[in-house]
Amino acid sequence: MTLVLGIESSCDETAAALVTSDRRILAQAIASQEEEHSPYGGVVPEIAARAHAERLAPLIDKVLKEAGKTLADCDAIAATAGPGLIGGVMVGLVTAKALAMASDKPLMAINHLEGHALSPRLADSDLRFPYALLLVSGGHCQILRVQGVGNYQRIATTIDDALGEAFDKTAKILGLGYPGGPAVEKLAREGDAQAVPLPRPLVHSKEPHFSFAGLKSAVLRAHDCGEHSDADIAASFQQAALDCILDRTRRALSGMDAVSALVCAGGVAANQTIRAGLEGLAAEFDLPFTAPPLPLCTDNAAMIAWAGLERLNAGFAADPLELKARPRWPLDPDAEPARGAGVKA
Ligand SMILES: Nc1ncnc2c1ncn2[C@@H]1O[C@H](COP(=O)(O)OP(=O)(O)OP(=O)(O)O)[C@@H](O)[C@H]1O
Ligand SMILES: [Mg+2]
Repeated sequence: MTLVLGIESSCDETAAALVTSDRRILAQAIASQEEEHSPYGGVVPEIAARAHAERLAPLIDKVLKEAGKTLADCDAIAATAGPGLIGGVMVGLVTAKALAMASDKPLMAINHLEGHALSPRLADSDLRFPYALLLVSGGHCQILRVQGVGNYQRIATTIDDALGEAFDKTAKILGLGYPGGPAVEKLAREGDAQAVPLPRPLVHSKEPHFSFAGLKSAVLRAHDCGEHSDADIAASFQQAALDCILDRTRRALSGMDAVSALVCAGGVAANQTIRAGLEGLAAEFDLPFTAPPLPLCTDNAAMIAWAGLERLNAGFAADPLELKARPRWPLDPDAEPARGAGVKA
């Protein structure tokens, strides 16, 4: 049995977790920065970095004590090394380097997106490579063929906003606060998903890429015209987003080499309507559908520890202590930029 300490600090959650190779989360702790950022309607990088610096060490101490373990019991220290807000990533990575050096344990520098991409395998021991992954989070909206640990073929990406970003902006327009996804989902339950005519950007286009900027602008116009209730706007937005996801994922699956399952991960995978829609889509292709339990969808350190375990198990070497934090770090470095995507490709 192998034990890894995971550290996550790439956005607005400071997190630490201890995970074993037999898929047990011995202890985990997350300190959310919601209160600090909510007055601004989004994450302020400088505030985030300072909050990570204050909270991370006590959190690590807490999970070690809770699990009755010490650093000496760990086989490796895994930390998010990018992509993300660079100040926060540096706090987590430097902490991990110091712990690795002090305890003479290997450092595993983890791509945060690889954490999301492998998180379904922490919860589901039957999930085998290769699988089709819809990765929908605050900063990303991609379809990948997950072929093995460290082996990701990006099939589609967003040419503008990420899906989580679209949920957050819709929440801001409707005055629901930050983070917006769960609030939009809750309000949508009281609304009529057909009430507000909203666009489905890129639906039926040949390449399976995503676009959500036009949908967000349409939500703003629908709100400003004053004819619709907030609940109807939330429900109609969620339905439009789901229609886009289903159409784009259907397109991607139609052109993809064989996979064992359709999988959804990342913060937006916590959305029940989206999970249900994807389950139906998987059935169309005779594929099982899986998504991690809700606490493993949004940012957490258990998925980072798990990615470290997967990398150890697959024979990847430890990372050097001089390794740099990376604000950008694509999972598939060979992917062609999506047409029209600009820097977000
Ligand atoms: N129930 C939900 N419905 C829709 N969206 C949700 C739900 N829960 C969380 N989200 C969205 O998920 C996003 C957060 O996910 P996550 O923590 O994975 O993103 P991130 O780490 O900020 O971005 P990335 O992983 O791309 O770097 C937010 O945009 C949030 O609004
Ligand atoms: Mg994330």
